[in-house]
Amino acid sequence: MTTTQQNPSVLTSAYQQSVARYWNAERNPVNLALGDVDGIYHHHYGIGEPDWSVLEGPEDTRERRMIEELHRLETAQAELLLDNLGPIPPGGRLLDAGCGRGGSSIMANLKFGCRVDGISISEEQVRFANEQAGRRGVADQVSFSFRNMLDTGFEAGGFDGIWNNESTMYVNLDQLFAAHSRLLKPGGRYVCVTGCYNDVYGLPSQAVSKINSHYICDIHPRSQYFAAMAAHNLVPINVIDLTAATIPYWRLRAQSNLVTGIEDAFLEAYGDGSFHYLLIVADRV
Ligand SMILES: C[S@@+](CC[C@H](N)C(=O)[O-])C[C@H]1O[C@@H](n2cnc3c(N)ncnc32)[C@H](O)[C@@H]1O
Repeated sequence: MTTTQQNPSVLTSAYQQSVARYWNAERNPVNLALGDVDGIYHHHYGIGEPDWSVLEGPEDTRERRMIEELHRLETAQAELLLDNLGPIPPGGRLLDAGCGRGGSSIMANLKFGCRVDGISISEEQVRFANEQAGRRGVADQVSFSFRNMLDTGFEAGGFDGIWNNESTMYVNLDQLFAAHSRLLKPGGRYVCVTGCYNDVYGLPSQAVSKINSHYICDIHPRSQYFAAMAAHNLVPINVIDLTAATIPYWRLRAQSNLVTGIEDAFLEAYGDGSFHYLLIVADRV
């Protein structure tokens, strides 16, 4: 499958330039040390019940066990996302929109054996992710490029599936779903995992605003996902509220040496009901 020319002006606003600078400079141990466990680098949160025993036991192995446990929970999140994409035939093609250091793309290729394109507006992430694909010997099937998910330059109708793993809060949803709708084949599958604010709460709470400020992002209300999907021929088939499943991850992470300072804001936002962690699955019609 060929790709069309890359857009020469990938970063189209001062905002996108600032997001790219953030991710180009990002070196948080919570991302790098966890990825070093097995070479799958995530930039998203975890789900599932932790093994709380990592907080106890021999002090000299505690940090190592904590890192492995947080990584296991983050990998479980990506596995759930990919389970909701499939089945994808080996001849299929997937797009990881806002791919970070590429962990989910590598997992998708391992699971489906298909071609995966990962895109990010961080050139450093793209370089890092391509290096990982090379190390694993899958660079012919998994490739990463510096592209804007709002205007990728890929040909229309070329993808069997597209996902956003915690990357929708950096873009306007109408523009994003218009772009995805163009790229997906009819009947193609879209999955996102995202934090969104609760319309019932009202507007973004103080804790949600702190998260926005920390990551330079703009968390959307839950309602906007469904309105923008409906406007662009993406019909939801499944919605899973992962809020309860992610809170234990945050509780564990808050007790680790890997804290980034945003843990309390997440726990507060989930706790006061102003914020949800959702997985949304939709089909392109
Ligand atoms: C929180 S990280 C998530 C990374 C990855 N999906 C994961 O789960 O590990 C957000 C990602 O979105 C990317 N991003 C933000 N705005 C983008 C845009 N307009 N086009 C492409 N990527 C974008 C960032 O560069 C970063 O890689």
